Amino acid sequence: MNIFPPLGQRLDPFKFYATMRESNPIAYDDKNKLWGVFRYYDVQSILGDYTHFSSEPPIPSPQKGKQPQKESRQIAFSRPSLLKSDPPYHRILRGVIASAFTPMAIARLESRIEDVANHLVDRVIKNGRMDLISDLAYPLPVTVIAELLGVPSEDHNIFQVWADKLVSSAGGELNEDSDSTKNLITIQSEMDEYFGPIIDKRSKDPHQDLISSLIKAEADGNHLNKEEILAFCTLLLLAGHVTTVNLIGNAVLSLLQFQEQFTLLKRDASYALIPSVIEETLRYRSPVQAVFRITNRGAKVANQLIEPGQGVVIWLGSANHDEKVFPDPDRFDISRSPHGHSHVGFGNGIHFCLGAPLARLEGKIALKVILERLKDLQFEYEQDSDLAEGLPQNIQPLRSLFFHGVSSLPLKFSQNVPGGPIGD
Ligand code: HEM
Repeated sequence: MNIFPPLGQRLDPFKFYATMRESNPIAYDDKNKLWGVFRYYDVQSILGDYTHFSSEPPIPSPQKGKQPQKESRQIAFSRPSLLKSDPPYHRILRGVIASAFTPMAIARLESRIEDVANHLVDRVIKNGRMDLISDLAYPLPVTVIAELLGVPSEDHNIFQVWADKLVSSAGGELNEDSDSTKNLITIQSEMDEYFGPIIDKRSKDPHQDLISSLIKAEADGNHLNKEEILAFCTLLLLAGHVTTVNLIGNAVLSLLQFQEQFTLLKRDASYALIPSVIEETLRYRSPVQAVFRITNRGAKVANQLIEPGQGVVIWLGSANHDEKVFPDPDRFDISRSPHGHSHVGFGNGIHFCLGAPLARLEGKIALKVILERLKDLQFEYEQDSDLAEGLPQNIQPLRSLFFHGVSSLPLKFSQNVPGGPIGD
């Protein structure tokens, strides 16, 4: 049984998920040798159970007749990182970094994020059109995370190449010969070459940035070694922008697709509904559709036994559309209540997204700047007949199984007069 939504339904996998939740909530995919879990409460119970469901990646056994490429396997699959570790190591790593990402620490970035967002809008506002992804949704989070880490945000072209490779690799087969694996190995070694000299420089001459803090930090009385610092830099740079670009893109896409919700938002001059738009986007079009675990001992999920050593794809995107938790789940509804606490768009348990406060803040500021400065915002497409179910046909979904979003989003608008009515 296939546990992945069909290619043609990447922007609308919700019917596939509904069928799986109804008929095959815990399904085994013979071809990919993976389990898929689709219901909300099963997803929650796995995310909360790291003793059975490990985040440490498997080291694949060499194929018959081939020498194991030890070094590349170690780099691509075995390097310890926050995301790919279990307790007690995970707890130690999380302790090192957690204070940099508390809501209070992140709130200090607000005015800088607003400046960057306004500057990006300044560059396109006179044209009356933009590609939301390349003009705002991508450069905003990449600039913010680059500044936080202390690397030049002008290097964003290199970051984009890595991000694109990562997105298209996500969900590929993890054997030594697959394109996904080659991509991951290339990204890792290119990022090591990039970050290595920066870490060396900061060791001698610390700045006020995250890389310098990581070098100074102590975990259980020891400093992090260079491998661990490299793993943090790679994770933070990529996790810090490949996901948030889709939060901003998916929020605007959904508002333009469901015009009555957009009208509701624009009617409120105090912007009080913006946080709800962000939470509903994280639920409805979750930027990360699935996370991966491997059973390190036999485990039971809703009476289904899963043997040790099995890969499990945990469908956050499906859990977030589970009718048992979210009434009328396939409706994008910014008045949905309660908000913010029940969706699993940021995962849950010990690996709950470290960057959630930052992603939420960037999403809110991007929407506020759009509402304040752009009027008559709409999709830009050739003809009326190009619109199907509220979406223009020219919109391309990301070529990824685990990330959900669009690769480009052409929009047109006019300039809002300061002090005039918002948005319309
Ligand atoms: C809308 C944007 C984002 C979404 C949807 C998202 C989603 C997620 C999810 C689902 C996980 C859990 C992974 C798992 O359980 O295996 C996660 C973990 C993580 N995220 Fe995010 N993320 C976002 C933004 C960010 C940002 C901006 C950063 C960093 C600046 C970040 C850094 C991390 C890190 C470091 C982890 C690993 C935490 C751990 O393992 O303890 N994320 N994220």
